[in-house]
Amino acid sequence: MNFLILAAGTRNKVVQYFKKTFDGVGKVIATDANILGPAIYDADKYYIVPPITEPGYIDIILDICKKEQISGVLSLIDPELSLLAANEDKFKTVGTTIIGSSYDLCEMALDKMQMYEWLKAHGYNCARSWMDKEDFYKAVRAGEVSYPVFVKPCRGSASISISKVYDKETVDLLFTHEDDLMIQEFLNGQEIGADVYIDLISGEVVSIFTKKKIKMRAGETDKAVSFKDENLLALIEKFVTEAGYRGQIDIDIFDIDGKYYISEVNPRFGGGYPHAYESGCDHMKLILNNLQGVANEKNIGAYDEGIYMMKYNEVKIVRK
Ligand SMILES: Nc1ncnc2c1ncn2[C@@H]1O[C@H](COP(=O)(O)OP(=O)(O)O)[C@@H](O)[C@H]1O
Ligand SMILES: [Mg+2]
Repeated sequence: MNFLILAAGTRNKVVQYFKKTFDGVGKVIATDANILGPAIYDADKYYIVPPITEPGYIDIILDICKKEQISGVLSLIDPELSLLAANEDKFKTVGTTIIGSSYDLCEMALDKMQMYEWLKAHGYNCARSWMDKEDFYKAVRAGEVSYPVFVKPCRGSASISISKVYDKETVDLLFTHEDDLMIQEFLNGQEIGADVYIDLISGEVVSIFTKKKIKMRAGETDKAVSFKDENLLALIEKFVTEAGYRGQIDIDIFDIDGKYYISEVNPRFGGGYPHAYESGCDHMKLILNNLQGVANEKNIGAYDEGIYMMKYNEVKIVRK
């Protein structure tokens, strides 16, 4: 039973965790478009593949799945998630299960406005959002929203081009320089991250890990501490079940005066997942169980509070 990690990049720990879990069961194979992607060197075997935008890319991945008898596959980058989901039948034909959510949910995760519309329509607390700045100005005049606000690309990632904005002039300026921006109410509260696994067989949420973000750096959580609140765990379970996510997901949440606001979902292993794993939430094992036809028992909040995560640098040295 072999496992394939696509776009492994710098996610060495994720590769290492899979290797540990699959030890004695099968090989862990990784891909990257770049020969200098460090994580591939932690896998049992690697393939250098073209960028996901190249025609024929999926056929190359399917060939690897066939040749290496891959049971399960996942990607670590957002733009590839929908591509995999769209080709689910082809993967099934070669005997490979995709660890991921539906095409529509992967697409919704890429479009922050679509996400907002869904959250609003289903009654979840979230930041009010506008694509049309004139509509936003109208809301300001009506006293429905006030500065500061958050301006960011509707299909952005990695915190690129995000700004906290204090006045109309700056909103106008940003909109002149960039297309497809959105304006959001500023969420002034404690940022929270959740790592969640939804069983592929039962469809139930079986594991949730939550942490308070202490420090962010370059769009990533740099320092965080685990915590538990039954209300939050219940909210996450309700939201994830209602939306219908599958496999591993990562959620951004804000706590504003005890009220939880859902901000973003990445339907994949998030960059901060090692914190969950090291605190006892081994989602690789849950994936292996599912691939072996075993549904996982619900085990939500199975970790201690007060476990801190601090990121630091590592290097990989390879001789060619
Ligand atoms: N409405 C908001 N209010 C306050 N902070 C925000 C808001 N939206 C985003 N942020 C901050 O910007 C970061 C990146 O925004 P996010 O929507 O998660 O986009 P992405 O992670 O895809 O770049 C968040 O982690 C959070 O720190
Ligand atoms: Mg985010």
